Amino acid sequence: MTIHRIPRTTAPEPGEYVPMSMDPAMAPAERGKTARPTSQRFVKWDACAAIRTKPRQRLRPPGDNGKEYAFFSPDLVPLIAHPLVHERGLGREVTIQHLYRYLHFTAVLEQQLVNPVLLRIATDGYPFELPKSMILDAHRIYCDEGYHALCAVDLTHQIEERTGSPALDQTNPQAFRDLANLVAGVPESQRHLLELAFIIVSETLVSAILTKSHLDVRVEPAIRQVILEHAQDEAVHSAYFSDLARLAWPQLTPEVRSMIGQHLPQLIIAFLSPDLPHLTRVLTALGYTGEECRRMLSEAMPRHEVLSGIRNACSVTVGLFRTLGAMQDPGTAAAFRSSGLFNI
Ligand SMILES: [Fe+2]
Ligand SMILES: [Fe+2]
Repeated sequence: MTIHRIPRTTAPEPGEYVPMSMDPAMAPAERGKTARPTSQRFVKWDACAAIRTKPRQRLRPPGDNGKEYAFFSPDLVPLIAHPLVHERGLGREVTIQHLYRYLHFTAVLEQQLVNPVLLRIATDGYPFELPKSMILDAHRIYCDEGYHALCAVDLTHQIEERTGSPALDQTNPQAFRDLANLVAGVPESQRHLLELAFIIVSETLVSAILTKSHLDVRVEPAIRQVILEHAQDEAVHSAYFSDLARLAWPQLTPEVRSMIGQHLPQLIIAFLSPDLPHLTRVLTALGYTGEECRRMLSEAMPRHEVLSGIRNACSVTVGLFRTLGAMQDPGTAAAFRSSGLFNI
């Protein structure tokens, strides 16, 4: 989930993490290609990573400053503007459930998807070679992701205690069910590489939640702080996974590159689409009929707006694979065209 993309012109400080795509010591023609990553990678991790430096976040006591904070940025919860939510006075509850889902999604993603991939990277389990420094970095990111999951579960418990509202649906997010179906559809020998591709996609996407939510002063400070700290860690992860993609891609067989390319649009759409089955379960639990649920979801999240949001969010990730030459594969270009995401 990328944050910084401005090429730097000054030399890095000793020990500063510098993604190879931004390293001024590297010849311009080499930046963003398959050059050797800097040995300085993650040396500042001990002084910067949230798990190494940040205290536990606690919700403010009720009534602190007499101010009622939001549990999530209202701009990122389209359902709360729907008239059927307004007229039944359920905006606060819908927002709380939205936050629970975000936190649950985060915990499942980090523990069950990102960290197994990092473990495989850390133990040399893929058919490509990486510099030793990147193997050690994989261990560091593994710790980061475990900590992000801990923060997500910790906040969930605190909010349940504070509000008395339990999470209404903690089933496996639809994105991960979609991924499992995609993975099941490829030859067994390629499955771990499609899972890796999903993680490269998810770690390099621009997340509106991570880039906007911590800026919204209406949101409870502890929640904003957890999201901010996560965003800061993820900016480094994004650079790492971009570098990893650049190094790994030329070492993969043409068949594997084509398989990954053809699945890219579906991986992106799966990760970024609203979880409609989950939202339906929550709205049903809140007393809405099936017909009301369908109407609310289609009106609050029209398909063209969803697609446009996905298109914006994935431009960096798609650009990464474009620089790798992935779009030159006819199957990949066709998959993007039929997805409605981009006309390659
Ligand atoms: Fe994370
Ligand atoms: Fe990450």
